[in-house]
Amino acid sequence: MAKVLVIGGAGYIGSHVVKALLKSGHGVAVYDNLSTGQKINLFKEAEFIEGDILDTAALQKAMSGGFDAVVHLAAKKAVGESMEKPEIYSTNNICGSLNILNAMVGCGVRNLVFSSSAAVYGMPEYLPIDEKHPFHPLNYYGFTKLEIEKYMEWYSRLKDFRYMALRYFNAIGYDAEGDIRGREIGSQNLLPIVMDVAAGRREKLSVFGRDYETRDGTCIRDYVHVSDLARAHVLAIEKLMAGAESDSLNLGTGKGTSVDEMIQAAEKVVGRKLNVEYAGRRAGDPAVLVASYDKAKKVLGWEPAYTDVEEIIRTTWNIE
Ligand code: WQD
Repeated sequence: MAKVLVIGGAGYIGSHVVKALLKSGHGVAVYDNLSTGQKINLFKEAEFIEGDILDTAALQKAMSGGFDAVVHLAAKKAVGESMEKPEIYSTNNICGSLNILNAMVGCGVRNLVFSSSAAVYGMPEYLPIDEKHPFHPLNYYGFTKLEIEKYMEWYSRLKDFRYMALRYFNAIGYDAEGDIRGREIGSQNLLPIVMDVAAGRREKLSVFGRDYETRDGTCIRDYVHVSDLARAHVLAIEKLMAGAESDSLNLGTGKGTSVDEMIQAAEKVVGRKLNVEYAGRRAGDPAVLVASYDKAKKVLGWEPAYTDVEEIIRTTWNIE
């Protein structure tokens, strides 16, 4: 069994990773500054250390707790904001990650599972997107994730250090057993907004573009359940500890769902029509993004358990 430090473990994806690690019998400590993470997401079985990745002294102290592996999910992730305030993303995502890498090599922690993103690829040149697809990030957020992957690659060459970068496509859903109750606040992503409209916290949903070359004119994305993502982190840690090489892996379902299809599925779940308006395209949105997860299947033996978006949305509606 591994002893794992989950940095960003109070956040949306991090809390699901903590649950999956505990369920597999691993020891877990969480390091989080609670900027977007929430105390309600913490598990009593996991030690909690409140701290920031920019506080190198606190980070090093936490890292010296005899860990076998680190999962790093502490990042700013609002794509629009990253274009307006890149300096925040340079500091938090890039400098913060370098602090983690340096603390790891300083404390002799060898294995890192890193929360990367499909945003490293940019506009798809072919579909489904595999890991050999060229990297042309369209936004500064995606650029920071790509840069961190490059730093990890260098550290793996120069130091006793190995990593798995997990490139998530569109993460949605919540723990189906209801153990994670912290609803993401202020998210600009589609499903949280749909749920805000359904719950009356928001007046309407604007659909960004109805004139794409897709089956119904709206954008298609690969929506993957957060508990499936979480399970991949556990497998990645176990593989690294068994001696696997460093790697970067896509995590998606291989199945595309349009914005209109998401709305229809949400309407079925909540049992009524939602207030929807059709607006213009959002800058930088590719028409279609769908993952090939063949490599994750080969390397980790990972496959998504959830492939039906209606079922995934049901796990989200449960937390209201
Ligand atoms: C999904 C679809 C929108 C809001 C982003 C990042 C990506 C990853 C996940 C991670 C798109 C449409 C959305 C709305 C809409 N990031 N939409 N109305 O842009 O695919 O991916 O989040 O940390 O790197 O780029 O996700 O949820 O914003 O959008 O019509 O109010 O829903 O146009 O087609 P996206 P999203």
